[in-house]
Amino acid sequence: MSVFILGIESSCDDTSAAVIDGTRILSNVTASQDVHRKFGGVVPELASRAHQQNIIPVIHQSLKLANISKNQLNAIAFTNGPGLLGSLLVGASFAKAFAMGLHIPLIEVDHINAHILAHFIQPKTGKKEVPVFPFLCLIISGGHTQIIIVKDYFDMEVIGGTIDDAAGEAFDKSAKILGLPYPGGPLIDEYAKPGNPDKFKFPHPSVSGLDFSFSGIKTSILYFLRDKTAENPDFIEQNLHDLCASIQHTIVDILLKKLTKAVEQTGITKVAIAGGVSANSALQKALLMKQEKSGWKVFIPDFEFCTDNAAMIAVTGYFKYLRNDFAKQKISPYSRSRK
Ligand code: KG4
Ligand code: ZN
Repeated sequence: MSVFILGIESSCDDTSAAVIDGTRILSNVTASQDVHRKFGGVVPELASRAHQQNIIPVIHQSLKLANISKNQLNAIAFTNGPGLLGSLLVGASFAKAFAMGLHIPLIEVDHINAHILAHFIQPKTGKKEVPVFPFLCLIISGGHTQIIIVKDYFDMEVIGGTIDDAAGEAFDKSAKILGLPYPGGPLIDEYAKPGNPDKFKFPHPSVSGLDFSFSGIKTSILYFLRDKTAENPDFIEQNLHDLCASIQHTIVDILLKKLTKAVEQTGITKVAIAGGVSANSALQKALLMKQEKSGWKVFIPDFEFCTDNAAMIAVTGYFKYLRNDFAKQKISPYSRSRK
């Protein structure tokens, strides 16, 4: 029997709606917000306004693509946090009103939980292998960097995290120093392709255990480029590919070292990545190498489920639906991680 869940994601600068039948995806529609590009980062007020403009057309489109009517929906799942409060409120308010109007359950979803459960989304046709519990998940996004033991859909233990910037911030801030627009992560990935990753060396932070630190890289890049551009004002332009490749190599190396440590400490060799930075091609390549050489079983989300999307909200909603884990109408969004 079909269980149709509408997922709504609006935690940052993507307005997304998806329809899922069980774990099988029927549609996933995302409107990204270009308005932030010229500001070098997400402007919360502008994000809220853009969500307000985009949410109805995106939901309309997701139902149309899924080829179902709103009356067939079994529940509405929405991102309740963490994220930008004004942005979250748009999705939450819409979800509440829609669920109330349709007389169906409302399901609140944690954005980070959903990034991890994106691994359980099944394609429209065919079958995809999903990770078996327990597995390790490195969650790397614009706001989070954590290593988590995923024991079950909603039973997770954080065993490492960043003490300052997130991995996505390290990419975005480095890109900004290079004069690239926001978000810089995908651009660094692209410019790095023909570059030499060993050309420039940036120091690795010395953080104990499974924790990360990325703020030092940003500072060392800043000082390095200040000195180089004082000698040669065209230094960045002339070395852009090598600079991007070297910065990317440093960040990927830091992530891989900690992940290797986590595998050694826990004995768990099933390793998943999730969140926007998991779209990084160098990281994916390094992980596939680990799979080949060290016997890890690696899980990489499809590209459209790496960055923010509503399909991951819908699938998480489905697992909560099976548990009758429904939200009350008085629920309100939270901006910071609850864990
Ligand atoms: O998960 P996400 O879409 O939003 C948050 O929840 O934060 O992650 C966005 C982050 C940004 O920092 C962006 O630069 C980074 O993911 N990102 C990448 C790549 N694609 C997105 N970083 C490196 N390489 C990429 N290919
Ligand atoms: Zn995210």
